[in-house]
Amino acid sequence: EVTKDWNGADQVAIRSPRGASVRVCLHGGQVVSWRNDRGEELLFTSSKAIFKPPRATRGGIPICFPQFGNCGTLEQHGFARNKIWTIDEEAPRLNYGDNNNNKASVDILLKPSEDDLKCWPHCFELRLRVSLSMDGDLSLISRIRNVNGKPFSFAFAYHTYLSVSDISEVRIEGLETLDYLDNLSQRERFTEQGDAITFEEEVDRVYVGSPCVIAVLDHEKKRTFIVRKEGLPDIVVWNPWEKKSKTMVDFGDDEYKQMLCVDAAAVERAITLKPGEEWTGKLELSAVPSTNCSDH
Ligand code: BG6
Repeated sequence: EVTKDWNGADQVAIRSPRGASVRVCLHGGQVVSWRNDRGEELLFTSSKAIFKPPRATRGGIPICFPQFGNCGTLEQHGFARNKIWTIDEEAPRLNYGDNNNNKASVDILLKPSEDDLKCWPHCFELRLRVSLSMDGDLSLISRIRNVNGKPFSFAFAYHTYLSVSDISEVRIEGLETLDYLDNLSQRERFTEQGDAITFEEEVDRVYVGSPCVIAVLDHEKKRTFIVRKEGLPDIVVWNPWEKKSKTMVDFGDDEYKQMLCVDAAAVERAITLKPGEEWTGKLELSAVPSTNCSDH
């Protein structure tokens, strides 16, 4: 199903037979909504978000490529999130029930424009498959192909804004004892000491070499997000907290309490592709009632 969004950029929606849904916007190739089968929104979007290209929308899951943050010559987090993607007509669209499949999907594509090539002179194809399972699990699979004559390197992140009830009641499990690069002190390297990550101030860290599965526990909502990743060694954790929130025009002063960014990412070490090579990076998100997740 293709619908038009508030500013005319195309959106594609998938709805599961049980009522879960996901919406993907061609502006940025960004997932802008993910709802469970009770209709509850699981991703945060700011009430001050600006839905107009060339800005990325503050919320959902923007794609950071080919740069993460401001470490490089490109705009912050690279250009992919600011561009208009297209539907990938060559990819077969999966539907519920086809070949006993329990997922439906949409495939979108980004190729560099002449302008992109001026600031990043590498020919690539970035394909993103967004799927929603019958159970309402969301998966994002990105494939980046080098269609250039020379190798190139890039960083990548699924900049995932999770919706939480109250940030002070949230904890992340699975990152304990890992090393992290602290974006708040010029990416200095530290080692995590706590049992689980909790939040009482601004956090902006790249946890390096993290496990394939981590959990984000939201006590008040009695909900746990399970984050599974492949091909993406790092996890970025970001909450702007009070002071930084006030400096962002597209973010409410108190909204830091209702969001947490947990990004499956490749940041510490760039990924290099030789001509003709392809890389795949996968993110799977499930939102489960906390009582059922003691085994994670
Ligand atoms: C996070 C970065 O991933 O994104 C932060 O670690 C940054 O440093 C944040 O502030 C938001 O970035 P932007 O460009 O969307 O405002």
